[in-house]
Amino acid sequence: MFMTNKVTQGVTLRGDPAREDCFKVVHLHNELYDFNDMSEVSRRQRLHRHMHNEMQSLEIAAQSLADFPDAPWDLRLQLARQCWDETRHAMLLYRRLLELGGRKGEFPVMNYEWSVTLMSDSLPARLALQNRTFEGGEMDLLRQLIAKWREVGDERTAEMLGGILADEIQHVRFANQWVKRMAKEDPRILLKVAMAIRFLKEVTAALAPQPGEVNAAGVDLTGYKHLDVFANIEDRRTAEFTEEEIAELLRQEGFGSITSEGQPA
Ligand SMILES: [Fe+2]
Ligand SMILES: [Fe+2]
Repeated sequence: MFMTNKVTQGVTLRGDPAREDCFKVVHLHNELYDFNDMSEVSRRQRLHRHMHNEMQSLEIAAQSLADFPDAPWDLRLQLARQCWDETRHAMLLYRRLLELGGRKGEFPVMNYEWSVTLMSDSLPARLALQNRTFEGGEMDLLRQLIAKWREVGDERTAEMLGGILADEIQHVRFANQWVKRMAKEDPRILLKVAMAIRFLKEVTAALAPQPGEVNAAGVDLTGYKHLDVFANIEDRRTAEFTEEEIAELLRQEGFGSITSEGQPA
């Protein structure tokens, strides 16, 4: 069932995981209801989307456990712990969604991370995509979201996201440790990682919205950048990104002058 692929905008991606009938699964960003405010419906949509992302994180880690039975035991243990964390996160978000009057399946869902990550047949490459890239990005986003929820007076959700962030840092950290360790033992792994990152770039380009394109909630998709997030430096250090990697990230986000100023050559 998981092995079938799908073609979206000309790119071959892993077919969607099983979902309950209440969920409407879509394949493009313009079919999602991402609001750009903190209205009540937007709050429910944010929780719903995050809940579904946690479900995907769980499924990706679990699928890797099943696909790589010969991976080092300590790494398998980390993946198993990650499954437990992601399950807890999904349940926390689901409960909060219910408290705010929402329901499972209230908004369409997209299995983007699953579809991209599971196209790779290499565990280090999957860790580089899912943990290092997607969860690394989530880590940055969470810091901003915590402040956003606090601003509208929802301390409970803000605190819940703070707890989730602490776990995400660990997921990024163990992936960083293992990708580096495995690449040291077998440098050919870096090629697999590079291929996976290139694939992600291809998918991002193929699925990028056209100028003026709006999503299902009427929000202009090109009006804001999806990854327009100032890198969360402290958390990235804790997650064991090197200073060079953090500097590169800041450079990509247009903050290059910050990193080059006052830095030893
Ligand atoms: Fe999570
Ligand atoms: Fe995670």
